[in-house]
Amino acid sequence: MNDTAQTRVAASGHNSEAGLDIAAVRRDFPILAKEVYGRPLVYFDSGASAQKPQVVIDTITQVMAEEYSNIHRGVHYLSQLSTTRYDAVRGTVQRFMNAGREEEIVFTHGATEGINLVAQSWGRNVLREGDEVIVSVMEHHANIVPWQLLRDQIGIVIKVAPMDDDGNFLIDEFEKLLGPRTRLVAVAHVSNVLGTVLPVKEIARLAHAHDALVLLDGCQGITHLPIDVQDIDCDFYVWAPHKLYGPGGVGVLYGKHDLLSSMPPYQGGGSMIQRVTFEETTYLPPPGRFEAGTVAIPETIALGAAVDYVDGLGMANIEAHELDVLAYAHERLAEVPGFTMYGRAEEKSAIVSFTLEGVHAHDIGTIVDRAGVAVRVGHHCAQPLMDRLGVAATVRASFGLYNTKDEVDALAEALTGVKEIFG
Ligand code: ALA
Repeated sequence: MNDTAQTRVAASGHNSEAGLDIAAVRRDFPILAKEVYGRPLVYFDSGASAQKPQVVIDTITQVMAEEYSNIHRGVHYLSQLSTTRYDAVRGTVQRFMNAGREEEIVFTHGATEGINLVAQSWGRNVLREGDEVIVSVMEHHANIVPWQLLRDQIGIVIKVAPMDDDGNFLIDEFEKLLGPRTRLVAVAHVSNVLGTVLPVKEIARLAHAHDALVLLDGCQGITHLPIDVQDIDCDFYVWAPHKLYGPGGVGVLYGKHDLLSSMPPYQGGGSMIQRVTFEETTYLPPPGRFEAGTVAIPETIALGAAVDYVDGLGMANIEAHELDVLAYAHERLAEVPGFTMYGRAEEKSAIVSFTLEGVHAHDIGTIVDRAGVAVRVGHHCAQPLMDRLGVAATVRASFGLYNTKDEVDALAEALTGVKEIFG
């Protein structure tokens, strides 16, 4: 565990051994009892999408079976019930992220939509030709392409903050990119490939000193670390509940209230208006103005259950446990012949990307799958990072709160088997 993580865990009053009862946690996730190809499932693909605890599954089922109706539109009993439960989740998420107020939480259809919303609502209306957006070389395509679309639409300039060969974000080089035309810094909180934890507080401080806003792609951050958006002082933070043990089809966009209030709607439709005539329409204040149409109702309510679940376990405990597994993986996987790891940042989260000499990543993924081990292979939606690393593809093991060192052993043994096949 690195120093910062240790401090956070100490402050929480827990240690990793006492903090989580992993056997009990695993029993909360029915799918983990499954066998694939006659072998116990080892699920190391939580970075792509995490498995769901029973409480999330039950919440979806219970809402659909007993309480479902459309929200914010009906006077009848079920609509009132669904509306109350949906609206309550905003407070749950606000407290989880330590946002200043509930209205700063917008429910989108996914993290990708959250970034596109900021690009098209804030960016397209505020930015001018020649204005600059800084991203990092580690970005997921979801935090690159929306800015390129905006570049094509209005002529903004995209600058790329570099990293060193270990995957450390180079804060000094980043600072040199900041200038009078910088309007936004849009970076990952945690790299989905390298596990690098970016120095987001310092990034925000420097960006604000240049009057630039900060958007964090928190998809791999909120799943591994305690998040306090006021402490970070970011302007936007987006994340995907399906990676936090919740359902798909819903996303979270946090935005500072003044900013959201100044932004026009991203999509028009029902439920985001105050008054519509053929001549003119007025809109709800945020967050309603950004939630057009029928939203993902059971999924959002179950997102609340997922947040309550991880909050109950304690994010500091989850972080400590995952870092323990990560440290073991670093050691154990290095014993596999031909193993090369990508990503050795000083601040790192629970992701290991690697190659095996002489074996294509897709072959590795296919063979370890037969041993019951699920990993992601390919470019991980981060092709510019692959170019920077000089590889076409890697294998990625991404750990969740339910993974164990025994499972790392299973991966190491499967990889050793791969090397034996390929020589
Ligand atoms: N963003 C997800 C991943 O990194 C899909 O796998």
